[in-house]
Amino acid sequence: MSSVRIVGGRPLSGEVAVGGAKNGGLPILAATLLTDDPVAIDNLPQLEDIRTMVTILRGLGGEISQREDITQICMKGFSGDPDGEAVSRMRASVCLLGPLVARHGRAVLPLPGGCAIGPRPIDLHLYGLQKLGCEIALRNGLIHVSAKRLRGTRLFLGGRHGSTVTGTANILCAAVLAKGTTEIQCAACEPEVADLCHFLQKMGAKISGIGSPILTVEGVDGLHGTRHRLIPDRIQLGTFALLAPLARGDFLLSPADPSHCGALLEAFDRMAVPTELGPNFIRVLGSRCHLGPMDLTTLPYPGFPTDLQAAMCVLMTQAEGISIITERVYPHRFAHLGELERMGAAIALEGQSAIVKGPSGLRGASIAAADLRGGACLYLAALIAEGESTVRNVQYVDRGYENFEEKLRRLGAQIERIG
Ligand code: EPZ
Repeated sequence: MSSVRIVGGRPLSGEVAVGGAKNGGLPILAATLLTDDPVAIDNLPQLEDIRTMVTILRGLGGEISQREDITQICMKGFSGDPDGEAVSRMRASVCLLGPLVARHGRAVLPLPGGCAIGPRPIDLHLYGLQKLGCEIALRNGLIHVSAKRLRGTRLFLGGRHGSTVTGTANILCAAVLAKGTTEIQCAACEPEVADLCHFLQKMGAKISGIGSPILTVEGVDGLHGTRHRLIPDRIQLGTFALLAPLARGDFLLSPADPSHCGALLEAFDRMAVPTELGPNFIRVLGSRCHLGPMDLTTLPYPGFPTDLQAAMCVLMTQAEGISIITERVYPHRFAHLGELERMGAAIALEGQSAIVKGPSGLRGASIAAADLRGGACLYLAALIAEGESTVRNVQYVDRGYENFEEKLRRLGAQIERIG
């Protein structure tokens, strides 16, 4: 268990270097199983979840080395099943199913459970693999997927809460080596899925409709090695962007792709937070804002990201009036609200909506993270609170924010790790 101590209320401003996207890197790492050739990935963030995926690939016999910013991976001749203990540590290990079955004809993984953000079923992943010709069995908490030859098909990947990000990644990775054409309807349109498509294309895959909800994949007999640079992490960027108006500071965030952040930029416009955009940066002028209330709903991309809901809740505590944020992707993802209330926020949970009355003067407190993004929002709250806060269980935050504390210190924050 790790904690950080934060002294709130310090003026913050400056530049933030945005790292490579964790949620793009994880399925791309899994997709390196699709070729015997070496693959190079630039800008892979040094994060706990990425390390776990690298450990799993090494356990399968992969050769992985790091030179400066470039990770070299060669999965030639890999064998065996992924290590169950490592797989169970991280839900995103489910991304291994598609590549393993495409390359190996089989995959055995522990069935992922729910987590602090609510139930996390994988029925759509399994349905898609079945449609591609896989046999699926669940025995003793393990998923067994096998296929003699994957065949292209038409499948619909939408569920109760919309499309599935890692589900689309799995089906894509299986379809690229299937015989014939696969049409994925209601595919996830997240930039991380598009980035995976571009990576697979560079390896020789034939994919069209990239970035749209209908992806068409023409199966090929084999894929080759490539080099790929990950897109900037739009959730890391969004977390810092939301801190700028909270701290009334001006932040320059780069590298950034503003086209990936449309819903956040629109929310800033409506809350009267000025921004300036360039081809590779976003500047958030928090010193010049007068925060108005906001009513927004999280939705699959290009909607407002569920991964920024918690941080947006903190911003709403500082806006004048009643703000509402409705969670449509993970209806139970509200563990952070109780902790924010303990700091003085006025929030009521009504079904899937948090109703936030602002502005509230937040006070330092001893608070605990229950998940990655909820944990990051507690950092933001503590940074603007009066007095000192201790945020416990920050190992969750380490899973998604590279050098978070160092980056915050560079902006002027007083923050130190304890324990
Ligand atoms: C990805 O998770 C991200 N993880 C999550 O990031 C993110 O919150 C989520 O997408 C939504 O944007 C990675 O990319 C590694 P989903 P994923 O399948 O793919 C339901 C973070 O903090 N569903 O798109 O697991 C599901 O319950 C994280 O970085 C089914 O019903 O999410 C949810 O309500 C956490 N059946 C919705 O769909 C399925 O088979 C979207 O989930 C699969 C999902």
